Amino acid sequence: MTITAQRPEQTDIRAGVSHPLDPLTPEEITEAVAILKAERGLGKETRFETVTLNEPPKEVVLGYRPGDPFDREAFFIVFDNRTSETHEAVVSLTSGGVVSWTHIPGVQPRITLDEFSECEAAVKADPGFIEALARRGIADVDMVMVDAWSAGNFGIEEEEGLRLVFARLWLKMGPNDNGYARPIEGVIPVVDLNRMEVLRVEDHGIVPLPPNDGNYAAEYVKDFRQDIKPLEITQPEGPSFTVEGNKVSWQKWSMRLGFNPREGLVLHEIGYEDSGRVRPVMYRASLSEMVVPYGDPRPHNFRRNAFDLGEYGIGMLTNSLVLGCDCLGEIYYFDAHLHDTRGNPVKIPNAICMHEEDYGVLWKHTDWRTGHVEVRRSRRLVVSFFTTVGNYEYGFYWYFYQDGTIEYEIKMSGILHTSAIAQGETPEYGTLVAPQLNAPIHQHFFNVRLDMSVDGDINSVYEVNAVAKPRGPDNPQGNAFYAEKTLLPTESKAQRMINPESGRHWLVSSSSERNALGQPTSYKLTPGDNTHSMLHPDASVSRRGAFITKHLWVTPYAPDEKAAAGDYVNQHPGGDGLPAWTQADRSVQDADVVLWYTFGMTHIARPEDWPVMPVAYTGFTMKPVGFFDMNPALDVPPSSGHNGACCGSAACGCHA
Ligand code: CO
Repeated sequence: MTITAQRPEQTDIRAGVSHPLDPLTPEEITEAVAILKAERGLGKETRFETVTLNEPPKEVVLGYRPGDPFDREAFFIVFDNRTSETHEAVVSLTSGGVVSWTHIPGVQPRITLDEFSECEAAVKADPGFIEALARRGIADVDMVMVDAWSAGNFGIEEEEGLRLVFARLWLKMGPNDNGYARPIEGVIPVVDLNRMEVLRVEDHGIVPLPPNDGNYAAEYVKDFRQDIKPLEITQPEGPSFTVEGNKVSWQKWSMRLGFNPREGLVLHEIGYEDSGRVRPVMYRASLSEMVVPYGDPRPHNFRRNAFDLGEYGIGMLTNSLVLGCDCLGEIYYFDAHLHDTRGNPVKIPNAICMHEEDYGVLWKHTDWRTGHVEVRRSRRLVVSFFTTVGNYEYGFYWYFYQDGTIEYEIKMSGILHTSAIAQGETPEYGTLVAPQLNAPIHQHFFNVRLDMSVDGDINSVYEVNAVAKPRGPDNPQGNAFYAEKTLLPTESKAQRMINPESGRHWLVSSSSERNALGQPTSYKLTPGDNTHSMLHPDASVSRRGAFITKHLWVTPYAPDEKAAAGDYVNQHPGGDGLPAWTQADRSVQDADVVLWYTFGMTHIARPEDWPVMPVAYTGFTMKPVGFFDMNPALDVPPSSGHNGACCGSAACGCHA
């Protein structure tokens, strides 16, 4: 395409773009890359780690009215394999020029998909690697899988400044085998990604290959169960949601969808319609970072951990979904438009799945004297995407309910990370899941960033604990307990841990709005399953991913603070992100607050997690607390039951 230095002022709406928060279209990606390449003279050594929408300032978005003109900007992170230099850039698609070009010293951008495959090829061509395989009697290099893992940062001087990965190896017996059944234990190729060159091949000693295939694909299963009858979800009148561009409306909920290479799905402007006006709940919600630290301290295993956003980018690793397999019912898919490291647009068709699910009973009461029943069925809107990060799968699910509840759930599946151990040995830092196959112990931590706007941007955060009153004259029977609400006024005071024993949760309250009872309108964050970090406070992952050391963090909104462990996690020594920002101990009282919630799972593998893991779940909920004056779901109509029966409503005159 041709680039003109001066484009005419563009105020008309571009194809596929109708709102300032719409993700970049493929055409915009192509155009922005061409502008940057031309103006900065970027050659083939340049890799494009990120090309994404430069999200407009909040005031621009909040002030936007349909039909208003708006600027389009692309945000870039690019790096040069020759010089190992990283730059951030902003390109204006509106003016057709580079707005900023900033050198970011001493960082390593995420490892890109192209580098993974180039690294595998480089390792397979390395004589030292072929020798290490030969020592194990492995001749067919084509059947070896080479998974590159970030080197992390362990303060090792000679690794500084290098773009390093430590690869792990597995051997397949056939092309469609479970790739992770036979770890080639002890061989670790160390690769400089800038030169795409194997620096050395570590050999920590030979362990025999585990004997079993661990195959799970349909072609390997002999006897499928025969007693499953069809289950079909039909919505003869179609789904109850509407989609305009990237805006979704479902019953009283509305939101905008975004997508980027690092975070994947982003939800913007989540609101609930009440008496004809949309009341804001959250301005922006996304996963901010995650880390999976493994517990094996031995020389060839201590590096094993993965920051899947900051080191790899879950948007880039998103699956293209298949109708009826990943989601059931009347599905609406959104495609994601990302890019490769040369700046070419890459489309992930059907990246985001949206559908409705029946969710059992919404509310119910039977008057046992009259036999009168009132019951309503619950339905939820599901917005989700699924990623594959090497051996593991993560599904990220947002649920919106008719009573104003929002739930976030992560589904964990895929294949366990595996090591080989000698016959007869019992692993200390893992579980034997098949003969001679060890699944190392690990934890999965996730941090979500919730830019709250409960009835407006100015909110305060409170912690609520149930407190047992000491026995005394005013509590003679010892049964007294009450809810205690404590303001979290500053960043340091708002770093909190979960406490299931006191029913601890956190309330985000409007500073100005009250419900009919005079209470501040609020939403509460209630923890679900969660765990504590098992790492020493000085451990590398504790420093690099300090977000795991507290379950709750609260910061005042700052547009550049989006990643809990900082923007450049790959090989970073640590201290960036939340621990750095919160040193200022800013006020979060009557402020535009951002909640950062860390949750996770301690994964002690089971034999049943092998050869492919049934989904494990973790998440949390956000529920209205005095946001409404009463149950907001009284207006959900009774549904009709089977064979025309009426599901318990006064209007139907149904009785038990
Ligand atoms: Co796990």
